[in-house]
Amino acid sequence: MLRELLPKSQAAAAPISPVAHSLLGKHILSVDMFTKEHLNEIFNLAQMLKSRVAKDRPLDDFLRGKIMASIFYEVSTRTSCSFAAAMQRLGGRVIYMDQTSSSVKKGETLEDSIAVMAGYSDVIVLRHPEPGAVSRAANHSRKPILNAGDGVGEHPTQALLDIFTIREEIGTVNGLTITMVGDLKNGRTVHSLARLLTLYNITLQYVSPPNLGMPEEIVRYLASKGVLQKTMSSMEDALPTTDVLYMTRIQKERFASEEEYQKACGHFVVTPKLMTLASRRTIVMHPLPRVFEISKEFDSDPRAAYFRQAEYGMYVRMALLAMVVGARN
Ligand code: CP
Repeated sequence: MLRELLPKSQAAAAPISPVAHSLLGKHILSVDMFTKEHLNEIFNLAQMLKSRVAKDRPLDDFLRGKIMASIFYEVSTRTSCSFAAAMQRLGGRVIYMDQTSSSVKKGETLEDSIAVMAGYSDVIVLRHPEPGAVSRAANHSRKPILNAGDGVGEHPTQALLDIFTIREEIGTVNGLTITMVGDLKNGRTVHSLARLLTLYNITLQYVSPPNLGMPEEIVRYLASKGVLQKTMSSMEDALPTTDVLYMTRIQKERFASEEEYQKACGHFVVTPKLMTLASRRTIVMHPLPRVFEISKEFDSDPRAAYFRQAEYGMYVRMALLAMVVGARN
């Protein structure tokens, strides 16, 4: 726990958590870097911060004077805005760069842009359409870089917020059956989430349109970690045993043609009627944005967790920024 969160009398004597310290100054590029201890530390801090925000308690001493560079070469609503909100709630400030209004238009390379932006900021949040581009950029940055999504590669902070959501909504992750539905081939959120879930004792079920299944490399990795995986042909088959239904968008921007994209659409849609097959305790998650895969009629169902999930993301990103940048002690 960071010392700001303790009463003053205990704070002076409290040691800095070694786990928090172990993320200080570190790049967050892939979920593979996390241990269970890291996750517990991040989630405990996120929970504290969530409670402080709910009580309108001041938090702006944490990162006062620090600057986050928000660099998005691909569009974003949640990742971009929740990181910005997180930094500002902790007292820091944000500068922005994107590929359409910067000197990227004049041919500046990613490596050069990152080297420059690292000089202006204390931490960089980077999204890029090419898998591996964020790791490449990290080689040119003397400030920590947080991967905000690299093409069909990884989205590690999304995976963290997804697991935090499950913990907050259900109380535990162990023992659950999680069903991932949709474009599992191109969806980076499910790639990172599946990998991170290997730290827990869970069962995974996959439901996807033809040719959009979970990549073989990830299936093999999970199998090597002892995760039970089942591929199912319909949501009707999967729902009765599902604790967490994780819906995903068909990733239109990753398809070669509109025709191919259209062929992949409309197979799996959450509706109030379909959800009568699931338990009353099953939660429905989605990294958002949704297109057609969850009907709006389902939004008022208490099991619809996706908007709460988006908010949990801000608390998880607050915790990560505090740990990586180093909140004042
Ligand atoms: N979940 C997610 O990454 O959303 P954005 O693309 O809007 O950031």
